[in-house]
Amino acid sequence: MSKITRRKAIYLGSTALAATVAAKTLAQPPTLKDYASKKGLIYGSAGAYSKLSQDQEFADRFIQECAILTPENDLKWKHIHPQPNQYNFSRGDWLLKFAQHHRLKMRGHTLVWHSALPNWVKETVNSQTAEATLRDHINTVAGHYRGKIHSWDVVNEAILVENEHPLGLRKTPWFEWLGEDYIELAFRAAAEADPNALLFYNDYGLDYDNNYEEKRRNAVLKLLERLKAKGTPIHGLGLQAHLSGANTRFNAEKLRQFLAYVASLDLKIMVTELDVADQRLPYDHLERDQRVADVYEMYLSTVLDEPNVIGVVTWGLSDRYTWLSGFRPREDKKPVRVLPLDQELKPKLAWESMVKVFQSDSFVLTKPPLIPRSRFLSSISEIA
Ligand code: G3I
Repeated sequence: MSKITRRKAIYLGSTALAATVAAKTLAQPPTLKDYASKKGLIYGSAGAYSKLSQDQEFADRFIQECAILTPENDLKWKHIHPQPNQYNFSRGDWLLKFAQHHRLKMRGHTLVWHSALPNWVKETVNSQTAEATLRDHINTVAGHYRGKIHSWDVVNEAILVENEHPLGLRKTPWFEWLGEDYIELAFRAAAEADPNALLFYNDYGLDYDNNYEEKRRNAVLKLLERLKAKGTPIHGLGLQAHLSGANTRFNAEKLRQFLAYVASLDLKIMVTELDVADQRLPYDHLERDQRVADVYEMYLSTVLDEPNVIGVVTWGLSDRYTWLSGFRPREDKKPVRVLPLDQELKPKLAWESMVKVFQSDSFVLTKPPLIPRSRFLSSISEIA
């Protein structure tokens, strides 16, 4: 989306929003999706079938706050393709119906990933059969949801600089069987299966100002450049943005330049999995919530300055259900407080920070002048 397009969207959206908000005033105060849409952005959250289908209170809150839903696990290989000749669309279909019924868009997550693979893949696939297996999966899954998905995370987490591949590529099973071309192949297959979906490359570790993430940004940028140069049907970069409340080492200028470079490749950008871990923060709720909220604000106020950013998805809506409880537990074993709503589904300071950024005029939707590519990619020599 160009600068003009997003601004136009804001202008056109504001009249409609005023009417919607006015109509809803008595019923319900504006929520994250309303504030986001006023800025021409879409806001939503990851959600799981197991939670949205069982917890009515949570589902009700979810549809109030969100305009887009990403199935957290239900479309992954393990769940949707449990046996070589068996697909299971039941949970994905339920989520799609839920989304459609409540006028939410749905994202697709994810068609190619090294993780959440069923055992049969590693046990039976080899370099002779890998291409057909991958094509069949993408055709079947993206084909099943053809025309109904806003955007697919076609390839997820293909970069791992510690694998010491010259281009920073992760040595995933797909890479081992098919080489680098598996990425392009996946995008082309997805475009054939669902020509209307936006096709995203999605990755983590692109946010902080340190050497490691600098290398990751460079490797991602090089990958995107290669894909675009080959005419691959790719439309966007997903920034997972799994952040930490204990790490505030952002460099707004560098991050902004990275996003401007991505945008200069004619790619959209979406924050796809935002959350802020509180693992190393003090117990005190007020202090903890404030530090988490500060990171939401710091990050989003920089990222949303880029006009090609089309939306923000948090990896969960409420602290009631978050992967961080299990994957990044606190040492004191107290419940984590990492998402916009608390366990009782009440807005926290993080929610307020997001609203503040969505309402802010401080992001101006302008492109910074691009510094020369060679300077920007100076550390690429370390990986290329
Ligand atoms: O559903 C089973 C349950 O039946 C069983 O009793 C339980 C015992 O461990 O496991 C449950 O499955 C777990 C599932 O989450 C649902 O909670 C899996 O073990 C666990 O591996 C799975 O973790 C998910 C992880 O991806 C791996 O697929 C997380 O929920 C999910 O939040 C996380 O999401 C990823 C994105 O897809 C990609 N980016 C990073 C992000 C966070 O890791």
